[in-house]
Amino acid sequence: MKVVIIIPTYNESGNILQLVEKLQETFQQIKHDMHILVVDDKSPDGTAEVVKTLQTRFNNVHLLMGEKAGLGVAYSRGMTYAMQTLGANAVFEMDADFSHKPEDVPRLMAEIDKGADFVIGSRYVPGGSIPMEWGFRRRMNSKFGNIVARYLAGIYPVRDCTAGFRAIRTSILQNIDFSELGVKGYAFQVALLHQAVVLKAKIVEIPVDFIDRTKGESKLGIRDIIEFILNAWWIRFNSLKTFLKFAVVGASGVVVNLGFFTLFLMAGLNKYIASPIAIEISIISNFLLNNFWTFRSRKTKDRIRIRGLKFNAVSFLALGVSYGTFVALSIFFPNVQPQLHQLVGIIPATLLNYFLNSYWTFKEVDED
Ligand code: GDD
Ligand code: MN
Repeated sequence: MKVVIIIPTYNESGNILQLVEKLQETFQQIKHDMHILVVDDKSPDGTAEVVKTLQTRFNNVHLLMGEKAGLGVAYSRGMTYAMQTLGANAVFEMDADFSHKPEDVPRLMAEIDKGADFVIGSRYVPGGSIPMEWGFRRRMNSKFGNIVARYLAGIYPVRDCTAGFRAIRTSILQNIDFSELGVKGYAFQVALLHQAVVLKAKIVEIPVDFIDRTKGESKLGIRDIIEFILNAWWIRFNSLKTFLKFAVVGASGVVVNLGFFTLFLMAGLNKYIASPIAIEISIISNFLLNNFWTFRSRKTKDRIRIRGLKFNAVSFLALGVSYGTFVALSIFFPNVQPQLHQLVGIIPATLLNYFLNSYWTFKEVDED
């Protein structure tokens, strides 16, 4: 397996030399083809020069230069390069400032070897830790970040969503369009993790101690914090979107159903015949909208023909439920307006529609 440790740097000349040397030592415990990719954004302190001298000593050290555009942009470029140019099977995310212990690299790697897709060096699982010397504010910032990611963005099962020390199989990354993440800064960590969750990656957290940097300073700025919170809201909104589309399609179906039913009654059609025809028309329009809008992006295992058959099966079932309700209500409440019976009949039929279409007709294929 080819493994690339991606280290973004901005003014890390005081750290990068020692870190690369330390990493080379730990590589001796790992039975993989280990590489280091430094993604430097033209650091004015000459970080790239240090890396270039390292390249004369080690042939597994790579350097990717770019313009400073944020941590997320640096990682996106680094991961793309690691996959496309270096042919990596797995990559690491790691800070240059010794906050992540090089000695922990083999432990993260071991989890990949055991079959994990996405390994997080976690500060918030038992055994992990944040620096003792962190003050109240820094602690709160970190805790708050994780609360936002877990409860707002909805990545509840992961304890350390913002961690920057991770090992990831490229089989997962290949399915992610970095430009679609829409983040430039530190929010990248949460955005990428969320994509891994969506792709049903096997995520494993192992405890690590996060060490405070001794040289240089943190690059996390107010812009990153704002983007971080907006990104969490965006993730939440997007996961609600399918449900909201369902509701909108359902509402349009009600209008179609009652509209056609009224038209048929006005045309003098018997209400017992007008009802199922109106139901059928609304179900077909619902299905079309769900197919081409609500579930458009779902990768289903069926070919369109099979999906069409399932459409029909669900359609008939829902028609039966809706019509059955209509008939029952007409018998038990003969003096109530037929429109009301028709309306109530829509409710159980629509719920059944949603359920069966989401979990059967448009069921997302499992990648594994
Ligand atoms: N190329 C590049 N471009 N590198 C950058 C940039 C950038 O715009 N911004 C930061 N880096 C590099 C730094 O040089 C360092 O190696 C690494 O990215 C992490 O940056 P720090 O500034 O040290 O981050 P931190 O200590 O505040 O944040 C750490 O903890 C966070 C969670 O609390 C990181 O591990 C984050 O990824 C993590 O989210
Ligand atoms: Mn740091």
